Amino acid sequence: MRIVLVGPPGAGKGTQAQFIASHLAIPRISTGDIFRYNVTTGTELGRKAREFMERGDLVPDAVTVAMVRARLAEEDAQEGFLLDGFPRNVPQAETLKKLLAEDWDTRLNVVLELVVETDEVVRRLSGRRTCRRCERVWHVLYDPPARTGVCDDCGGELFQRDDDSEDTIRHRIEVYNEQTAPLVSFYADEGTLIGIDATGPVEEITSRALAALRPFVRLPFTTFHQNDGGSSSVSLLPTPEL
Ligand code: AP5
Repeated sequence: MRIVLVGPPGAGKGTQAQFIASHLAIPRISTGDIFRYNVTTGTELGRKAREFMERGDLVPDAVTVAMVRARLAEEDAQEGFLLDGFPRNVPQAETLKKLLAEDWDTRLNVVLELVVETDEVVRRLSGRRTCRRCERVWHVLYDPPARTGVCDDCGGELFQRDDDSEDTIRHRIEVYNEQTAPLVSFYADEGTLIGIDATGPVEEITSRALAALRPFVRLPFTTFHQNDGGSSSVSLLPTPEL
């Protein structure tokens, strides 16, 4: 199963990607996370990406595509993946299509768009806090930890991303509208786009996402009928070979 998640900054791509990827037993590949790891660890890739990320601009395509190509070649991505943050413009989408066809003789199954209004993404990003140790994402109002500035899960220190300042958030949204939003019609024309309302509680959005993905994923049903035939329960299990 090869899925792309698209949506504005703060739409909840990272939040939803972890649940969807885990449910479908495929790796989540976040270009933003890979770049941030390389910036933090001071690699050559991080050095190239840093200034663009701090401004809220896209890292040049040549750098990004080479990184994604190497990641897709890793063993855990051979049966499928969930891409979070890539592609980010039409040239990246065209390159991905070509890469999948030429290197893997395959294509994307589906592109899931998370639809959220601008005011809401600004609220979400300005309150986001991330744990330095385990990378769990919190929100000061929507999902606050018990102790301010401390991760409930591991006790790590919470920090605000450099690109979550108000001015940079506004710029990232402009970049999204100019460069990334055209992907919606690109994938609609390809017949692979589905969109869901990404407002409301996180668990409800995950359920909406899984329901929307269901026609595209071979999810076998295990149905248990009681002897009286009156009721049944259904569990969804992923099919790893997709
Ligand atoms: P990236 O890390 O991909 O940033 P982004 O797309 O701007 O997305 P975010 O991570 O900010 O938001 P999200 O949608 O994941 O939301 P989240 O789940 O965290 O990219 C960063 C930079 O890297 C780019 O600017 C660029 O420079 C570079 N880059 C990356 N990919 C690139 C590419 N392909 N090409 C070129 N450059 C690239 O949620 C946000 C907040 O909302 C959290 O606090 C969360 O708790 C809260 N929240 C989530 N869901 C809900 C909900 N339902 N209700 C209330 N609050 C919620």
